[in-house]
Amino acid sequence: MSRKVYLETFGCQMNVLDSELVMGQLLARGYETTSDRESADVVLYNTCSVRERAEQKVWSRLGEMKQTDQLVGVMGCMAERDGTDIYRKFPHVDLLCGPGELDKLPAMIDNHFVTDASGRQTALMGANVRRSSTKAAAEDNLELLDLSRAVSPGDDVKQSYVRITRGCNKFCTYCVVPYTRGPEVHRPPSNIIDEVKKLADAGSIEVTLLGQTINHYAFDHGDGRTTTFADLLYEIHEAVPHLPRLRFVTSYPRDFTDEALQAMRDCERICRYLHVPAQHGDNRVLKAMNRGYTIEQYYDFIDRAYAYMPDVAVASDFIVGFPTETEDEFQTCKDVIRRARFKNSFIFKYSPRPGTVAIDRFADDIDDATKKRRNNELLAVQQEVADEVHQALVGQTLEVYVEGESKLVSKRQNNGVELGAGFRKQTDAVQLVARTRGDHIVVFDGDPSLKHSLVDVTVEKAKGLTLFAKKAHGFSGGSPATSDHALTHA
Ligand code: 5AD
Ligand code: SF4
Repeated sequence: MSRKVYLETFGCQMNVLDSELVMGQLLARGYETTSDRESADVVLYNTCSVRERAEQKVWSRLGEMKQTDQLVGVMGCMAERDGTDIYRKFPHVDLLCGPGELDKLPAMIDNHFVTDASGRQTALMGANVRRSSTKAAAEDNLELLDLSRAVSPGDDVKQSYVRITRGCNKFCTYCVVPYTRGPEVHRPPSNIIDEVKKLADAGSIEVTLLGQTINHYAFDHGDGRTTTFADLLYEIHEAVPHLPRLRFVTSYPRDFTDEALQAMRDCERICRYLHVPAQHGDNRVLKAMNRGYTIEQYYDFIDRAYAYMPDVAVASDFIVGFPTETEDEFQTCKDVIRRARFKNSFIFKYSPRPGTVAIDRFADDIDDATKKRRNNELLAVQQEVADEVHQALVGQTLEVYVEGESKLVSKRQNNGVELGAGFRKQTDAVQLVARTRGDHIVVFDGDPSLKHSLVDVTVEKAKGLTLFAKKAHGFSGGSPATSDHALTHA
């Protein structure tokens, strides 16, 4: 009987992809996947270290586990950062595996059973070693994991991630990523294109390219040629004409070339969506964060982006309560949201992380109540701006990808509570949740069979971060590659 694996993922999209790749390798070795932790033979947590809260969730998961006959593995950034501390606190953890060693994890698990290594603890970490080891060795490691991706018929690949760069060289003072994921390594463009093609052949509707500072992508072919991020976008767009949506995250505000903006403007299947974290609005704080740009340079990028694509949707991240942040300095973040017209922002309270420069250099001197208030104030401003950005879409017909049924409404329906505005009580229609090409959330009533397809909808109302729409007549979805229907960029 095959062994069952329970795998829970925390944190970013990079982790979601890593989990998928590890699970793919385990399935190929004959393991099965299960969503029931209790009955699993192997329990894996793919962890995040970016903020303390993310780590606490994993601590509590590990604390809950009483069974001793399961193989317990902690993979990802916490395994790399916290290392043997995890073993000390949780002796029932058997395996630790950092994000740069995941290609070896399936063999480690196999080995554990074959050699009956119960009671023995094994750790594979190496991001910091890799920083000083040869670049070629790091690249080999990276490729082994990503190349292992096997797409089988029937796999759910509608929305997929493809890594183009691993690691980060920026060293923002608050951030653990350069330590946990190691140095920036770019994948060969031919391998990226093959992977995107494979996914599109298997029915992918949307591929999201992943990189921590994705616009820094530059692959040196070793013969004087370099493939830039803009080149890569053009090449994928041309080589995979049957992929309806190509998007990417996360952009770094500096070094985003005009060529890359032109690629977004000129290639109709590239989504006009930019997630480009500003982090702060004040130059002194940006400097203390080691972000490497001034707010004027940030605005210069935003202005260029809107000049190329007046309809581009832009999202940001902010950190409030960074050490020494004054009230006036905090207020500048509000100006950034208004000036850059973000459709949404992810706002975080500063969390001191062991191993980073900021924790050594600064006391965490903004109390939690102040951080919370600043977080709420910034959210309120973002809400106002989001309202305006979303209102401007009312009346437009947009192509959306239907992700599934709206849980909230289905639940309300079950409880017999009155349904949301615009909901018609039809037995065959449910409220569906979808995304525009600009990543706006749309809800509309439709047949459940529309799930996982592209549909045209007309926006009737906007409220907060949600667009309320109705299905447009005439066109019922389909790939732009097979239809001459004009695409509407949200
Ligand atoms: N504290 C709070 N937020 C952080 N982020 C990264 N490190 C920290 C930290 N130590 C936020 C940044 C980043 C996002 C992924 O997480 O805004 O863009
Ligand atoms: Fe962290 Fe800065 Fe790199 Fe983003 S750019 S991953 S915030 S170090």
